[in-house]
Amino acid sequence: MRGVHYRHDRLRHPGWTLTLVAVLVSLGAMPKLSFMRGEGPGAITPDGCAVEFYARLRARGEPELIHEAIGEKASVLELGAGAGRVTHPLRDLGHEIVAVDESPDMLARIRGAETVCAPIQDLNLGRRFDAVVMISFLIDIPDDDLMRAFLRTCRSHVRDDGCLILERHKPGWHETVRPTERTDPAGFTSRIRTVERPEPGTVALTVDYLWGDASWTHSFLTRPMSDERLSAELATAGFRIDRFLDPDRSWVRARPVPGGQGA
Ligand SMILES: C[S@@+](CC[C@H](N)C(=O)[O-])C[C@H]1O[C@@H](n2cnc3c(N)ncnc32)[C@H](O)[C@@H]1O
Repeated sequence: MRGVHYRHDRLRHPGWTLTLVAVLVSLGAMPKLSFMRGEGPGAITPDGCAVEFYARLRARGEPELIHEAIGEKASVLELGAGAGRVTHPLRDLGHEIVAVDESPDMLARIRGAETVCAPIQDLNLGRRFDAVVMISFLIDIPDDDLMRAFLRTCRSHVRDDGCLILERHKPGWHETVRPTERTDPAGFTSRIRTVERPEPGTVALTVDYLWGDASWTHSFLTRPMSDERLSAELATAGFRIDRFLDPDRSWVRARPVPGGQGA
């Protein structure tokens, strides 16, 4: 069901949609991730991201944070690179980058980096990098099998003396996120239209992005990655937490350890 775009009738009744999703998920009749969808002009990725929206966005300090954490000239495998929002400034900071995404429309926007169109969970490039970077909250995906497959890919592509950079939602965010609207300095408005909790620990959001004449909607599920779970999942995959890179503890640097499922 991934890649199905939002229908207008569902948008008018998000509460009913959530109830139906919760019932079907609890009955095991529907993969959780089928709620992830998007709508709006241009291409939409399988997980519901609008390509044109992400192509307009600019980085906000992420490349510098990553650069400082991985070191000068480190080779980078960027998983879920999108339209290159972070790829391009990282490239300009001197990194050789392989950008991976399952959306060819996203990758078509990337310049000056090798691109690989593939699902992260299936990736096997047969080479290793100084740094594997997986940001944009992909680690918060509420599907344990998929999340673990992501981490195995990270482990099998990082050098033994390299590092993994992850971005999760900051601790507490899932418990406190509420419908709200804010205007971004970049010139768009983001409106969290609905926040539902279809099952314990999972948050379902529908967010509208309004930018000039264009508007997009993104519905997605997310689940908090606590310190304890992160530590345990990383250990299973063959990593240990090295340090948090920001005061919110959203950004994590992990180091490979011998063994682990992805080693
Ligand atoms: C929210 S966008 C962020 C893009 C970019 N990291 C940024 O910060 O602008 C998430 C990206 O991850 C990609 N993605 C999500 N799940 C994926 C998967 N399983 N395999 C490959 N790409 C995936 C989507 O196609 C999308 O381009």
